[in-house]
Amino acid sequence: MADDTYVLAIDQGTTSTRAIVFDHAGQPVESGQIEHEQIFPKAGWVEHDPKEIWRNTREVVGLALTRANITYENLAAVGITNQRETTVVWDKNTGEPVYNAIVWQDTRTQKIVEELGGSEGADKYKSRVGLPLATYFSGPKVKWILDNVDGARERAEAGDLLFGNTDAWLVWNMTGGTDGGRHLTDVTNASRTMLMNVDSLTWNEDIAADMGIPMSMLPEICSSSEVYGEGRRGGMIPGVPIAGILGDQQAATFGQACFEVGMAKNTYGTGNFMLINTGTEAVPSENGLLTTVAYKIGDNAPIYALEGSIAVTGSLVQWFRDNLGIITSAPEIEDLAKSVDDNGGAYFVPAFSGLFAPYWKADARGALVGLTRYVNKGHIARAVLEATAFQTREVNDAMAADSGVDLTELKVDGGMVANETLMQFQADILGVPVVRPKVAETTALGAAYAAGIAVGYWSGEQDVIDNWAEDKRWEPQMDEAERERTYRLWKKAVTKTFDWVD
Ligand code: G3P
Repeated sequence: MADDTYVLAIDQGTTSTRAIVFDHAGQPVESGQIEHEQIFPKAGWVEHDPKEIWRNTREVVGLALTRANITYENLAAVGITNQRETTVVWDKNTGEPVYNAIVWQDTRTQKIVEELGGSEGADKYKSRVGLPLATYFSGPKVKWILDNVDGARERAEAGDLLFGNTDAWLVWNMTGGTDGGRHLTDVTNASRTMLMNVDSLTWNEDIAADMGIPMSMLPEICSSSEVYGEGRRGGMIPGVPIAGILGDQQAATFGQACFEVGMAKNTYGTGNFMLINTGTEAVPSENGLLTTVAYKIGDNAPIYALEGSIAVTGSLVQWFRDNLGIITSAPEIEDLAKSVDDNGGAYFVPAFSGLFAPYWKADARGALVGLTRYVNKGHIARAVLEATAFQTREVNDAMAADSGVDLTELKVDGGMVANETLMQFQADILGVPVVRPKVAETTALGAAYAAGIAVGYWSGEQDVIDNWAEDKRWEPQMDEAERERTYRLWKKAVTKTFDWVD
């Protein structure tokens, strides 16, 4: 491979959009990153401006290429990874979104979800799509837009409106927009809509009809690694193949080389998402996990995963910073947490978007419990960090129950893994070692690998395995009695958040 050839990954996340240039050794060369506005029109509502996201995407690609001192001509391929479920509906004739993107954390569809479930309840579609009915997924968000935006349903029925997660929105714009843009997504993103049959990887027309969603709105479902199209002429990457798409958590699973059954990773981002590879079998969950597609490389069989999705982890630290102002930058929380020896009896359950796995309770709301006059801001900082680790333990227990296999170690990645206090506590509360890779940008890396494999820049999964290297490992230090005592109190704290919405 020529030394001056690279793969570019675009990571369209919940809080920011990034572009990272990777070399053939899977090392990040340069990057660009821009945050976008978080729009909170009402309690429980979260929106993004799709046009801001598209503008930022073009800007970060330019930044990354300039900083790497290369042009699009040095790119073998581009891969895309994205916040999943976040829903964009736009007009294919004008390229204008009909409404802001409704973000995965948004709970406005609670009534829609209850009505859809009817007497059959939350598991109505589970055997077909692998997911419980919940506000988290895209289908009910599309329904909300069609029900509430003036004229949207008529335009959708006339075939003028398109739906996509942010991957599809970007690909459509990158490949030409109103001038022949390609309307497609990959199996991992489609598996988060509640509209895709998890076994056949095709759209389920009955569920789309229940939600009043015309089939013409839905993107073509493709694999995670193939040439979908090229950057449009006159655009930021003219003629460069766009060749990889994976939802961000699936991309991290791929970038962490979790290719064997039983291998798992946990990503610490806005929320936390643990995925365990279940191979070519879509395993149904009895314990509040999601059955999802992990990846599908070209014509190969799809590989499935069980996923534990936690809505609020890193975003609790942001909330602590922005809404309470107790710290001025997120990393400061570690020093504050280290100013005390323990949580002082305080437990913080951040049910800001209800509770996701393993509870799926849309009407839960956050609670800070166990307070006495002894508790100070150091204890609360510690409770904020511990909330991430306790929620991860709950998901880990559900995985062990569903798969019958106990994890022997946990591969971690994402922004919060720089926090050593949290990583130690995570190992303590799980009772197994926690392992951080050298390249912590596994999400972008996974998308780069998917794109690079499609064009022959990398030969396959073995390259990913060969390039993966361990950076640091935390061994559990807490004794068993203390681990179970504090976890029991956490579980009790969780029960205080239930049934909070009138
Ligand atoms: O399912 C939501 C998830 O894909 C968002 O990930 O990293 O943007 O918080 P992140």
